[in-house]
Amino acid sequence: MDKILINGGNRLSGTIEISGAKNAALPVLFSSILTGKVNTISNVPGLADIKTTVKLLEHIGCRVNWNGNTMVIDSSTINSHEASYDLVRTMRASCLMMGPLLSRFGEAKVSLPGGCAIGARPINLHLKAFEEMGAEITIEHGYVHAKAKKLCGAKIYFDTVTVTGTENVMMAAVMAEGETILENAAMEPEIVNLANALNSAGAKIEGAGDSIIKISGVKELKDIKEAIIPDRVETGTYLVAGAITNGELTITKCNPHDLEIVLSKLKEMGAEIKIGANEISIKAATHLKSVKITTTPHPGFPTDMQAQFMVPASLAKGTSVFNETVFENRFMHVAELIRMGAEISIDGHTAIVTGERPFSGASVMATDLRASASLVLAGLVADGTTEINRIYHLDRGYEKMEEKLKNVGADIKRVKAS
Ligand code: UD1
Repeated sequence: MDKILINGGNRLSGTIEISGAKNAALPVLFSSILTGKVNTISNVPGLADIKTTVKLLEHIGCRVNWNGNTMVIDSSTINSHEASYDLVRTMRASCLMMGPLLSRFGEAKVSLPGGCAIGARPINLHLKAFEEMGAEITIEHGYVHAKAKKLCGAKIYFDTVTVTGTENVMMAAVMAEGETILENAAMEPEIVNLANALNSAGAKIEGAGDSIIKISGVKELKDIKEAIIPDRVETGTYLVAGAITNGELTITKCNPHDLEIVLSKLKEMGAEIKIGANEISIKAATHLKSVKITTTPHPGFPTDMQAQFMVPASLAKGTSVFNETVFENRFMHVAELIRMGAEISIDGHTAIVTGERPFSGASVMATDLRASASLVLAGLVADGTTEINRIYHLDRGYEKMEEKLKNVGADIKRVKAS
């Protein structure tokens, strides 16, 4: 298995260009199932999860042409409504096939998902909403089988804010009969990207980005033409890299508006930040200050940035407190950061990080996508060499990470498995 080696201590300076957002690309690519046309999606990042998505789309009969960052998906040739465990197990977001398949063909059989091991991560709210729209759901042999003669619009209240749940049900509703209203919907920028993609094909979705979304069903869709938004988690990760390495970085092709709370926490910790239309510059703080972070759904502090912020918190003066309210079991990076010199104690959903604990290089194991990013960040400032194993997690979500960091001065390389 490939690993990453980092010799810490280099100051980072220069420019990093941001790729398209994984979490926006996945639902938009799956939404092409709905149209039965030739769809064109641009700014698609080259990531392992996107390759899995292409395999899934091809498996059900789509023709996919992926050239550079543009993907053309012909969904007129779909001949199967089933996604097997082999394909689904590495990516939980495969469940996003269910809404569009059910809507267009009245049937979807999708293996229950795997993916990051961060808590139970059920899809009960997706399934409950499909049932409220008239689908019959059975779970057998590890598969969810959804069937509906006709999907009907419904008023759906999500007990918990769910990002992929909102996306899945939105896709099911665009061609359902009548009006669907989603209440307590997720408000993430990725939801807006999906709604814009669907509306580009003639769907009638209003209110995406708010907690109430109204969808009037249409009989047919045209082809989708949409660009994927910049990845806000990738942006945030490189901003943290700038903040901790005594660096001066400019992050380009990003959307500062999607990162308001992350930027305000970095400022609180002492970093100097300048915001342009599509770029953010960060200058490291002379002395980092401690921080209090509570993760919540957008527009709150993203759970996907929690692990990365523990690195500056370990270096800062004072004690930082992290409250994780979105997922159970999302402190798996803590054990590895402790092996690198951090002092962090966990009490239920709260982690207390003692500051002024410099990192020292070690051999560590990536456990999930964002946890892996925190280990890379710690490696950048650690004394000596850090060896990060199981980096397939990183490849799921960060396009060309070593290359991007190397270009701004990091001593980082990938060692291919022999
Ligand atoms: C998405 C993102 C992930 C991010 C997360 C929260 C994608 C592909 N992934 O994941 O990177 O960390 O949002 O911002 O976009 N829940 C239920 N029942 C359900 C669905 C969810 O109880 O049917 C719970 C989950 O266990 C979790 C919470 O709701 O505690 C939020 O999960 P959700 O927003 O669904 O996360 P994902 O969409 O899987």
